[in-house]
Parts: sequence; C-alpha cells; structure tokens
Amino acid sequence: MFVGAAIPVLAALLLGANAQVHYFQPEQIHLSFGATVEDIVVTWSTFNDTKESIVEYGIGGMVLKAYGNSTVFVDGGKNKHTQYIHRVTLPNLNPKSKYVYHCGSNLGWSPMFWFNTVQNDEDWQPRLAIYGDMGNENAQSLVRLQEETQRGQYDAILHVGDFAYDMNTDNAAVGDQFMRQIESIAGYLPYMTCPGNHEEKYNFSNYRNRFSMPQGTDNMMYSFNLGPLHIISISTEVYYFMNYGLKPLVNQYLWLENDLVEANLPENREKRPWIVVMGHRPMYCSNEDSDDCTHHETLTRVGLPFLHFFGLEKLLYDYGVDLNIWAHEHSYERLWPIYDYKVYNGSYDRPYVNPGAPVHIVTGSAGCKEGTDGFVANKPEWSAFSNSDYGYTRLKAFNKTHLYIEQVSDNKSGAIVDSFWIVKNFHGPYKNSQMDWAKLDSMRLKNF
Ligand SMILES: *[C@@H]1O[C@H](CO)[C@@H](O)[C@H](O)[C@H]1NC(C)=O
Ligand SMILES: *[C@@H]1O[C@H](CO)[C@@H](O)[C@H](O)[C@H]1NC(C)=O
Ligand SMILES: *[C@@H]1O[C@H](CO)[C@@H](O)[C@H](O)[C@H]1NC(C)=O
Ligand SMILES: *[C@@H]1O[C@H](CO)[C@@H](O)[C@H](O)[C@H]1NC(C)=O
Ligand SMILES: *[C@@H]1O[C@H](CO)[C@@H](O)[C@H](O)[C@H]1NC(C)=O
Ligand SMILES: *[C@@H]1O[C@H](CO)[C@@H](O)[C@H](O)[C@H]1NC(C)=O
Ligand SMILES: [Fe+2]
Repeated sequence: MFVGAAIPVLAALLLGANAQVHYFQPEQIHLSFGATVEDIVVTWSTFNDTKESIVEYGIGGMVLKAYGNSTVFVDGGKNKHTQYIHRVTLPNLNPKSKYVYHCGSNLGWSPMFWFNTVQNDEDWQPRLAIYGDMGNENAQSLVRLQEETQRGQYDAILHVGDFAYDMNTDNAAVGDQFMRQIESIAGYLPYMTCPGNHEEKYNFSNYRNRFSMPQGTDNMMYSFNLGPLHIISISTEVYYFMNYGLKPLVNQYLWLENDLVEANLPENREKRPWIVVMGHRPMYCSNEDSDDCTHHETLTRVGLPFLHFFGLEKLLYDYGVDLNIWAHEHSYERLWPIYDYKVYNGSYDRPYVNPGAPVHIVTGSAGCKEGTDGFVANKPEWSAFSNSDYGYTRLKAFNKTHLYIEQVSDNKSGAIVDSFWIVKNFHGPYKNSQMDWAKLDSMRLKNF
C-alpha cells in the first residue's frame, strides 16, 4: 500500500517539467459588460505567460477573432502566487443573439462556452440574479444558480461583495478555486461585482485583478445601463478601511455625485428611470449582531464620525435613487421606503407605489462557511420582511414604471419567500429632498 501510494508521487516528480505545459491552459473564465452592453469582456487566467490573449467567437460558429492582452497578478501572500489575467473585449455584438466562444492562445484553448446578448436600448425587461457573501465552502445557492443560468433565466448576475472567503486565503488558492467554481455561471453571462470586506487583504488586489468591470476604476466603482435600469456599483469599504486614507472615500463620493447628476439629466432619466445602487455594507439592518448596520450612525449613511461629511444616504435621497441593494448580513431583509430612520410609504396605502424615499434590500445569504444570520426579536418599524434562509434575489424590470423583486429560498427548494413590486410614474428627487437644483445645473455645465 505504501509503495503503491509512492508511485504517483514519484511519477509526478519525474514528469514535473513536462506538466508545466498545462500551465498555459486557460481557466477561471468569466464575462462582464464592457463600455456598453454591446461589448462583452472575457477574462481568464493562465499560470504561465502565453504572450497572446485571443477569443474566437461568433453566432453559430467561432468565425470571428478578438485580441486583448494580459496583466501579471502576484498575490500578496508569502508564496507570491503568480498568474496572468487575460482580458479580451468582444465589441459591437449583435443584440438578442446567442454567441459561442472559446478563449486562450496558440498554446491552449478553453472548452467552448456561450452567452446571449441583450439589447442596448431601454425597451426590454432585464432579469437579474442578485446576492452577496458567497464562498467556496457552503455555496448553498450555487447549484440552483448554475441550473437557472444555463437554462437562460438571467441576463446578468450582481454579486454584491464578499467572495470565496477569501480570495487571498491560502496564497490565493481559494481565489483560484472560487473563480473555477463560478465559471459555470460567470462563463455564460456577465458577472457584475462590487467589493466587500472580505476582499480587503493586500489593498483589494485579488478583487481588483481578477474582475474586469467597466470604466477603468479597478472595479471599485462604475455604472452601466441595462434596459430601463441605471445600475451603480460602489465600494462601501472606503468608509471602513481608513488605513487606505480618505482619498478613496472622497474620490468615490465625487464620482458618485457626478454619475447621479448625469443619470438625472432629463434625457437620461427619461430613458433609464430606474437608478439602482449596489454596495456591500447596509445602512440599516435588524440582525442580531453588532455590525455597523445595527448602529444608528452607520458610516455609509451619515459619513465620517462626528463631522458627518460624505454621508451617502442624503446623496441617494436627493438624486432620487429608487433601489439600494446591500449584502454583508447573511440573510435577506426588505425595508419600507426609508430616509433618516423615517418611513415614507407611497400612495394609496401601498408603500411601494410612488414611495417617498429609496427602497433598501439586504441580500447576503448565498452561502458561505460563516452560515446565516438571525434577526432581533423586536422588529423595528422600518423592517418590512426578514428571512434567514440561504438564497438569493431575483429582479425583473418590466418597464419604466414597474419593477419586480422576489427572494428565492434555497432551504425551501427554491420557493419564493418574499416578493414585491415597486411602481413609480415619477422618477426623480423625493418630495422633501433638499436638492439644490442650481447646484445640479452648475454641475451639468461644468461636466458636460
Ligand atoms: C512557467 O512558470 C513557472 C513559474 O513561474 C516557471 O518556473 C516555468 O519556467 C514556466 N514555464 C514555461 C514553459 O514558461
Ligand atoms: C490591451 O488590449 C486593449 C484592447 O485591445 C488595448 O486597448 C490596450 O492598449 C492593450 N494594452 C496593452 C498594454 O497592450
Ligand atoms: C492601493 O491601491 C491603489 C490602486 O492601485 C493605489 O492607488 C493606492 O496607493 C494603494 N494604497 C496603498 C496603501 O497601497
Ligand atoms: C407603511 O406601510 C406598511 C404596510 O402597509 C405598514 O405596515 C406600516 O405601518 C407603514 N408605515 C408607516 C410609517 O406608515
Ligand atoms: C437552511 O438549511 C441549512 C442546511 O442546508 C441549515 O443549516 C439552516 O439552519 C437552514 N436555515 C433555516 C433558517 O432553516
Ligand atoms: C408595465 O408593466 C406592468 C407589469 O407587467 C404592466 O401592468 C403595465 O401596464 C406596464 N406599463 C406599460 C406602460 O407598458
Ligand atoms: Fe461582508
């Protein structure tokens, strides 16, 4: 038995040099939207430098070829685990078409994958799966997401921070595993992300390097248009990891206000009326732990301690953000429309019909080794619904007035445990907002 076990080990040692050929093989293949939804970016890793980064693709057959390049990514751990992250943009794709592709180089190709393109206009109904806090270990929702993705149930996924637990763990081996694990979904549709606290190690370098979000800010903040949705992704972590200084926080605040001004230009808001913000740590939650969202003065909500500069809640209220999506708590929670701890229900006794403030949901129960989080016994008046099952959220934007959201429970075999409509025939700053229209106008002149 001893000898038997030794033979493969010996063989591996002897064949070691040859085995390196396999390091040219593409792996961890995933997609994201490029500058617009007409561009798809294919990202993958190899462990040796292939010199070339190529995607062969097309409708019905791989007749087209696009070239990109790679960057070397060295993890911060003691092994300095090194890989080449390849990025190729497939530009100007035909809408509503099924493309096939594979990626690699003349030193090795991936298996063939496929994806469906969406329309670049606003008159269609985007379908998203949304969740945060999914790890390698105990990724409870992954199986269902794999099934649903490959059956074509979604146009994109939003992963609201906290990946792998953690991508840098074990000299980034856990990150490699995670990216292989999500390939079965992320290789087939755009996998759009924001950073969470589990990405912080080594200055967020595993997160910055492994993904390819639009707008060139190292994936830390960006926005994109999808049908009638304008989706904004931010880092709440700039409020919590002060060891990186104030600059990332201030930069993001200025960038965000600028993006919101642009999204509110009449010609833009008319086309993409739904403004959705995703970020990792919630402003409010009623979980039974001591996370910042259980405190009254949440940093992201009110801004810096004491000074209260750069608080986000007022900004989101003033620019009429419709929906905020957070994670971090390993559970699901839906809030009544809320601003500064006050509930602003909508018309006709229906809280989400023309609500008087943004709607918040927290959806961080996709599954990770830390399990799920419970809730306090006395539910605060602003909490509309909470659930601690493993699961994820589905969003469908029906049109400019109707947005539908539901929560899938993995514990209950995919049953829907919550669902609601947000209905709005006006999108813009909320009634009581102190929006300074003169300032908005001056920013318009300055920026555009
Ligand atoms: C592949 O990378 C390893 C580690 O950097 C290196 O030792 C090896 O020489 C490379 N192999 C080839 C064929 O380039
Ligand atoms: C990488 O590829 C992109 C897309 O082709 C190109 O715009 C960029 O200049 C390239 N970068 C380098 C360093 O070659
Ligand atoms: C973190 O990374 C960013 C982007 O590369 C860089 O600008 C910043 O200086 C880094 N901060 C530290 C403390 O290394
Ligand atoms: C908001 O609406 C919900 C559902 O009708 C209700 O339970 C809650 O009391 C309302 N809150 C306020 C402050 O009106
Ligand atoms: C959900 O299922 C997991 C096992 O898959 C279990 O550990 C957990 O307690 C369940 N959660 C609830 C709220 O029932
Ligand atoms: C928007 O979608 C909702 C839900 O399907 C529907 O009831 C409504 O009539 C639609 N509005 C328009 C203008 O199409
Ligand atoms: Fe988190």
